[in-house]
Order: sequence, then structure tokens, then C-alpha cells
Amino acid sequence: MRIQEIYNLAINKGIEADFRGREGIERLLERKKEKYERFSETEKEEFDLEALENPYLDSRILNISQDKEIKRVLVGIDIEPAEILLAKEIEDIDLIISHHPLGKGLANLHEVMELQCDVLNQYGVPINIAEGLMKERIEEVARGMNARNHQRTVDAAKILGFNLICLHTACDNLAAKFLKDKVEKKDSLMRLEDLLNLLKEIPEYKEAIKFGAGPKIFVGDPERRCGKIAVTEITGGTEGSPKLYEKMAQAGIGTIIGMHMQEESKKEAESANINVVIAGHMSSDSLGVNLFLDELEKKGIEIIPCSGLIRISRLDRK
Ligand SMILES: [Fe+2]
Repeated sequence: MRIQEIYNLAINKGIEADFRGREGIERLLERKKEKYERFSETEKEEFDLEALENPYLDSRILNISQDKEIKRVLVGIDIEPAEILLAKEIEDIDLIISHHPLGKGLANLHEVMELQCDVLNQYGVPINIAEGLMKERIEEVARGMNARNHQRTVDAAKILGFNLICLHTACDNLAAKFLKDKVEKKDSLMRLEDLLNLLKEIPEYKEAIKFGAGPKIFVGDPERRCGKIAVTEITGGTEGSPKLYEKMAQAGIGTIIGMHMQEESKKEAESANINVVIAGHMSSDSLGVNLFLDELEKKGIEIIPCSGLIRISRLDRK
């Protein structure tokens, strides 16, 4: 496989698993195209054309030094210049894949957060409320990203001649879909302890327990009942607005499964009586990345995990 084929496969898999459905994504891209047509010449020049084809602007091809057949990839949750140097030590690395966004993928992280509005709406939060509260938060994230050194790792890859891509929301969607399928049909009177045990059966989480990063109850206690379980925080860029928890409670959500949660959000969830189960950050990221890497492994590509990636292949389990 070539880099572009690997990348297209990731975007396609991400769309397949997207809670908005393929049709929803197509409508979104169509709308962007219509808007683009109405742009002035200057606006068109500055516009990121990738946005017309790719709904996940935090997943990008960042550097192609040598466009060749890819046989061996180094994959990590965070790729920094240290991992680029590591790739040089390992030898014969054809491509480096970062999960967390880099370069223009990082600069555009906020773009994928709109996904959260639709997901919240599917769980019963009125779309106007979801959009209103997320707008503030999206702008906050965009300002925060603005200050970052986006190109640092991309520059290191260019200097040392490594191909580099990042696959963020494209993979997080796979983790979200996997978890949703696992918990969705569970009895709402199931206790938090049972939900925790259910998560612990997933090999990435089982592995994370060994180094102290297994799933944890952040809000609620093991004896409490889950109520309606929502997978609203696994995909969609980064954490949403803390003000949403009260609205989620009103929409009938009882328990949220997330990857990570800041203190302010934890307090808001607590006062809204929403239980929070934090599955784990690196382990949840690994789950989504693994589901994609299995597709590469099927094509005979060798995977070398690094930087927090807990590599579990599901190919030999079937
Ligand atoms: Fe992450």
C-alpha cells in the first residue's frame, strides 16, 4: 500500500463508524462545497481544499519524503521529535503514524468537534443547546491550539526524511463505535461495577490495568445503577463543554463513558447526578488505532508500536 491508500482507508473506516452515518457526512461535505463555490478568489486561495473531501481535518498526511510501497510502520499515540529519532535507530521504517494530531491536523483539531453536537442530539440533547454550548468550547479550543508549535514534529520528519501522517478522529470513531456496540443494549439497571467489569474485558483496558491506568469510576460509586449509558466523549476532537452535563441529565443520560475528564467537568457531572466512567486515555486511543491497524496488518504491513500504543491485534482472535 502507498501512503495515500493507507490514509484513504483510514478516512473511509472513520466514516463507516461515524455516529452521523455516511449520509450525514456526505450532506456535510456537500454543504461545504456549496459554500466554497460562493467564496471570493482570496477566500478560495486561503481555503484548505482537503475540507471538501475529508470530514476529519485532524487526520492528515503531513510529510511525504519518499512515496513508496509501505511495508513497515512505526505507530504511536504521540509522535514527537524523540520518536522520529527513534525511527532512525530502528531502520527500515517506511512510514510513521501518530494518533494525536500534528501540524495542520493539530491546528484544525477544533473542526471535528461539531461531531459532538450531533452525537449529543442523538442522545436527546436539543441540537440548539448542544450547538450553543459547544460553540463557546470550540472557540476556546481553537484559541488554545493557536499558541502551539504545530510544525515541530513535522519539521523533524522532513529533516530526517520520514513519511509522516496523523490519524485522530478517523480512529477515535472506531473506538467509539466499538464501545457503543458493547454497552448500548445493556440493562439500564446494571450497576457501575458491572459496567467497569465489562470494560475490563476489553484487552487494551486489561493491559492498561497492569500499569495502573485501567478504567475508573470518576463520578458515582460501584453500587449505583447506570441508567442510560452514553458514549458521547470518546470521539469528536477533545473534551466538550462542562456546561453540557446538566443538559445531558435532562435528556435522560445516566452514565457517560469517556477517555479522560478535567476537574471542572467532573464537578459539573457530579452536581447533575451523572455517573462518569473513565475508560482511560492511552488505552482508549489504542483501541481505535488497533482496529485500524488490523486493516494494515491484513495487507501484510508490519506494525511497530511505540509512545503509549498498546498494540492488540484482533486478527488471530477470529
Ligand atoms: Fe487522545
